[in-house]
Amino acid sequence: MSDLGSFSQSADMAVAIEHSAAFHRDLVAQTIREAVAGDGVYIIDRSGRRFLDGSSGSGPSCLGHSNAAVRAAMHAQIDRIAYAHTAFFTSAPMEELADNLIADAPGKLSHVWFTNSGAEAADAALKLTRQYFVDKGEPERQIIIGRRAGYVGSTLAGLAAGGSDIRRKPFLPMLPTNTAHIGPAYAYRGMQDGETVDDFSMRSARELETKIEELGPSRVAAFICETIVGSTLGAVPAPEGYFREIRRICDRHGILLILDEVMCGMGRTGSRYAFTEEGACPDLVMIGKALAGGYAPLGAVLVSADIHDAIRDRTGFFWHGHSFHGHTLACTAALAVQHEIRDRDLYPNIRTAGDHLDWLLHERFAEHPHVGDIRGRGLMQGIEIVAHRPTKRNFDASRQIHARLTRHALDLGLICYASGPSPESGVGDHVLLMPPYIVEPHHIEEIVDKLGQALDRALEEAV
Ligand SMILES: Cc1ncc(COP(=O)(O)O)c(C=O)c1O
Repeated sequence: MSDLGSFSQSADMAVAIEHSAAFHRDLVAQTIREAVAGDGVYIIDRSGRRFLDGSSGSGPSCLGHSNAAVRAAMHAQIDRIAYAHTAFFTSAPMEELADNLIADAPGKLSHVWFTNSGAEAADAALKLTRQYFVDKGEPERQIIIGRRAGYVGSTLAGLAAGGSDIRRKPFLPMLPTNTAHIGPAYAYRGMQDGETVDDFSMRSARELETKIEELGPSRVAAFICETIVGSTLGAVPAPEGYFREIRRICDRHGILLILDEVMCGMGRTGSRYAFTEEGACPDLVMIGKALAGGYAPLGAVLVSADIHDAIRDRTGFFWHGHSFHGHTLACTAALAVQHEIRDRDLYPNIRTAGDHLDWLLHERFAEHPHVGDIRGRGLMQGIEIVAHRPTKRNFDASRQIHARLTRHALDLGLICYASGPSPESGVGDHVLLMPPYIVEPHHIEEIVDKLGQALDRALEEAV
């Protein structure tokens, strides 16, 4: 980002990174704005400027930034007790949250293992898988199959199971090697001429079976992927029927299915669990981000009874844990967030606002010479930017379209989540929009209008 010039921030009283002791994400940017307050879907910086949070950060802030009920619940809890280690105590917020999450979880999902983040949920899901097979007497099951151009978290195990080459590259010598990958079922780039959606769906799912046979079915432990691909591809749902076939393949070979709903779960697509729209139930589900709405860090893994019971009956405990497992204040925040979503009946708004966003994105960009695809579900929508629509050719990465777009969007007062082109998946520069569930029609209009302006400015500057 450094070659793109400084954000027009000096007047905004931004923090100079050069003089900051905090290890910032972008070490060569000159300044970064300081967030001082939240007001619904807006974040306010030190100069008083308001930024519409069009992506809920990277997805968490599903209730916006100033929810009164969540704040009150957290204040009340912190006055009683903020935290007690779960080796010695449980707490009402953790128990109630687990009940709440399991109450409408389908299939055999019966228990919740809490983590502090989505990436830790990936590690926990992988270790649950391994311990389940060891406890069950199938220790030869060691291989995890993921998908190319997927993302399940930034820990070493997460990077190994996820398939984002760019993110994996510097750390490759340190990554666990018990992983293999199949394609991402990414229709915009992967569907062949003349192929139907059904054919594409079956062809993509059967890649899993081929990979399992190649590796040896008794050696494979689990298949892990995002129900809807988020940051690496930009809101790409699977083609119809894909997950039903994936489930059949996993069952046929005794392999666990782990779905990552850290970004797309907890209501983002209009259903609490996005996989319920796919007609297939996983054995383990990773959640995070919108679980506690950004009011506290919290992730979790929903675990099926078979896995829980095998570990209980053999080892008697899960060989895993963190100091802040089931953190009382974080569970309080999450419980309040989940109650707010239900009490305010936000699901209809997620669907209506999602349709509105989808409609306005099509109205603004369907004929845009540099927008190749518009896709997504509910309040998780993405656009893919290309240099040449007919051939789907991408802009060269050096043009930094996504970084320029992010900068112009921020200058216009819009937060959106953009990433660059990637050779491994073919994806072009892309933008994720994931506004809070409380978003109103005029906010959606503001998002699309400012995104359009930001894209045009980025292209004007770079092309
Ligand atoms: C699909 C998915 N899985 C896992 C993670 C990791 O979550 P966290 O950043 O909380 O570790 C993310 C984060 O962006 C994600 O989008």
